[in-house]
Amino acid sequence: MTSDGRPRRLDLDRSIDDEILLRTVPGAVDYLFEELRTFSGAEVRVVARRRDALQLSYRGTLRPLAAIRYFDTAAICLYPDPDRRVRESTERGVLAALTGDSPQIQFRVGDLGEARWDIRDQFEADPHWHNSAGNWDINVVDSPGGLVGEVGELYLTERFGALLRAPASTNPVIGAVMVRLAKIEDGQTVLDPFCGAGTLLVLAGEMAKPGLLIGGDVQSSWARAARTNVHSRGLDGSLLNVDAQRLPFPNGSIDRIIANMPFGKRVGTHKHNIQMYPAALGEISRVMTPRGRAVLLTEDKRLFRETVQRTPLLRVIKEILLERGGAHPSAYVVVKRGNSRAVQR
Ligand SMILES: C[S@@+](CC[C@H](N)C(=O)[O-])C[C@H]1O[C@@H](n2cnc3c(N)ncnc32)[C@H](O)[C@@H]1O
Repeated sequence: MTSDGRPRRLDLDRSIDDEILLRTVPGAVDYLFEELRTFSGAEVRVVARRRDALQLSYRGTLRPLAAIRYFDTAAICLYPDPDRRVRESTERGVLAALTGDSPQIQFRVGDLGEARWDIRDQFEADPHWHNSAGNWDINVVDSPGGLVGEVGELYLTERFGALLRAPASTNPVIGAVMVRLAKIEDGQTVLDPFCGAGTLLVLAGEMAKPGLLIGGDVQSSWARAARTNVHSRGLDGSLLNVDAQRLPFPNGSIDRIIANMPFGKRVGTHKHNIQMYPAALGEISRVMTPRGRAVLLTEDKRLFRETVQRTPLLRVIKEILLERGGAHPSAYVVVKRGNSRAVQR
């Protein structure tokens, strides 16, 4: 079943041969590339690389691709010649893997301005696809290379399920990069002191094998949403209504901290951050183990860096610029001063 209860149409175990465009978040392409390089189960060649996408020549089943968290959408490349590409994909590509009672492809056309109606008419005339705005397999949209057909069942939420979202919830691709940067070891305690709806905790629980998962949020409604999300995924977590400036945990008790901090734009203000960041980073430093590691996302970067410099014992060892929806936050990897092992690993 797909996430909205429709029967699944895409056969993930059928071997295909197609040109596929994976779209991701600028800053996550390296992680996606690395994942594909060590990929088993399919033969993958990167044909083109952009700051937010990889074009692949893909041979094999789609199941291992569907398990990768570093992309939002996977689309069939319809360029440079849509007729030819549709034919090839129908014969041996992703379109051949769309099964079910009706072999007819249901499609919609995304926001393509005035061109939208012509494109809809063309795909209806040949290859006789059925236009269906509410129940579609393929979403025809534009990309810098030309038209592509996004595969509905390979959307991130279809692959991993949807979660309750807070207004400033972390994009799950950015979250996956953050969890990767956190290098969570088996059994380690993981804390998100700004957990919102708990996206990062769910990702930590699903991408690694942590021991205790702990989330805190100053707003009780978000701590409750995080509890629902964590428990709905069958994960064990302790979700608390707490202020990150006064954490109820003993010194040196937390191995890994991951958080999307208030940027001071949609959540909080820069003025508020001026007081809150030093207090929260002081607490992070206090509760983190000597070998601990924190991955903290913020767009209030200058304040963040200055605050880390002023926080005894903490230092930044890595910064990754990630972009989404007009925001340009960085994920900072922060460790305790004197933890030279963290830099080597
Ligand atoms: C960017 S959102 C986190 C989004 C979260 N990662 C998610 O995916 O839903 C920041 C969160 O920090 C919370 N927050 C703001 N100030 C806080 C504080 N002093 N202590 C704890 N939480 C705080 C806000 O309520 C908000 O839910």
